[in-house]
Amino acid sequence: MTNYINNRLILGAELEGCEGQIAWRSPSNIALIKYWGKFGKQLPRNPSVSFTLTNAFTDTLIEYNAKAIASEDIRLELYFNKERNETFESRVVKYFEELTPIFPFIKQFEFKIRTGNSFPHSAGIASSASSMSSLALGLCTLEHKLFGTLGDDSEFEKKASYVARLGSGSACRSIYSHAAVWGKTPSLPESNDEYAIPLNDEQLHPIFKDFLDDILIVSSQSKKVSSTAGHSLMENHSFAAARYDQAKQNMTVILEALSKGDIETFGRIVEEEALTLHALMMSSRPSYLLLEPNSLAIVEKIRTFRMESGLPVYFTIDAGPNIHLLYPMEHVVEVRQFITEQLSPLCEDGKFLDDHVGEGPEELI
Ligand code: DP6
Repeated sequence: MTNYINNRLILGAELEGCEGQIAWRSPSNIALIKYWGKFGKQLPRNPSVSFTLTNAFTDTLIEYNAKAIASEDIRLELYFNKERNETFESRVVKYFEELTPIFPFIKQFEFKIRTGNSFPHSAGIASSASSMSSLALGLCTLEHKLFGTLGDDSEFEKKASYVARLGSGSACRSIYSHAAVWGKTPSLPESNDEYAIPLNDEQLHPIFKDFLDDILIVSSQSKKVSSTAGHSLMENHSFAAARYDQAKQNMTVILEALSKGDIETFGRIVEEEALTLHALMMSSRPSYLLLEPNSLAIVEKIRTFRMESGLPVYFTIDAGPNIHLLYPMEHVVEVRQFITEQLSPLCEDGKFLDDHVGEGPEELI
């Protein structure tokens, strides 16, 4: 078990007048093997793997100032798109409170956090992965600035991933470039439930390093079920045990496919994972039906197009109606033409967002 509880991370006399700012840009990620079901403190019931995206990101600026008078409370103001956002603020206050055993210095400062997403709130893209990972990276940077404790890049990332996980499970995978695995799988001895690890060059074939993910916006309405509520639906689910076994097996198969560049096996697994996620939601108590008629129409069209064109184009879906189209960069021209002609008409206002596997988070200042 990793233990980041550290009561020595507290400033003495040097606290006086201490102030500064830190900013990170952190991307969203798309799960290939889905994390669905958790226990304890944000620990996953099964391993998951994701691609790190590029264009869907959150920028987070943390301004910190030493408190003039010592107090135990968390002091922070949160601005989302330049406006104070009390809902998000209270979530972050709670998050910071939970983090005080790891970062006791949090109580010595007051914070102004300014955050914003590159994608419109209404795009139906989950923002918790990008926003929580950018905050976690900011806090680890602050620790390093104050105490010089996280100079080793891989230690820094490991801690940022651990801290991000406590904010939102999927956020722990956004820390790394290209692809990340979270949760214990026998295929990767280093893998574990507490933080994600990156896939290295042997584990990720070059074909996947610039894979495209075009996100077809079927509906931009906010989610019918929060992910936290969604995960809890797995607790008494009739298919829970079988699902966790399936995910574990799929993980082994997809990791092999990712390392070999076997796109066909990759595609079979990601589609199975997406439809399983929705099958689990449909068969939950209560039941949720998040796919829209146009989501299914798009899935059918993708399958027909793949058969007729022979091109390796696959879909995945998160806990919502929008469809992610995954395919290699070399087919961008044909696939974009297919999107414009056949899929856009099924999207809300014809809208799709283009994204691709990328380099991971970036420190901005
Ligand atoms: C369907 O990470 O949003 O996107 O840990 O409760 O914040 P919390 O849940 P979250 O769940 C993501 C669920 C998913 C699949 C995935 O990203 O693996």
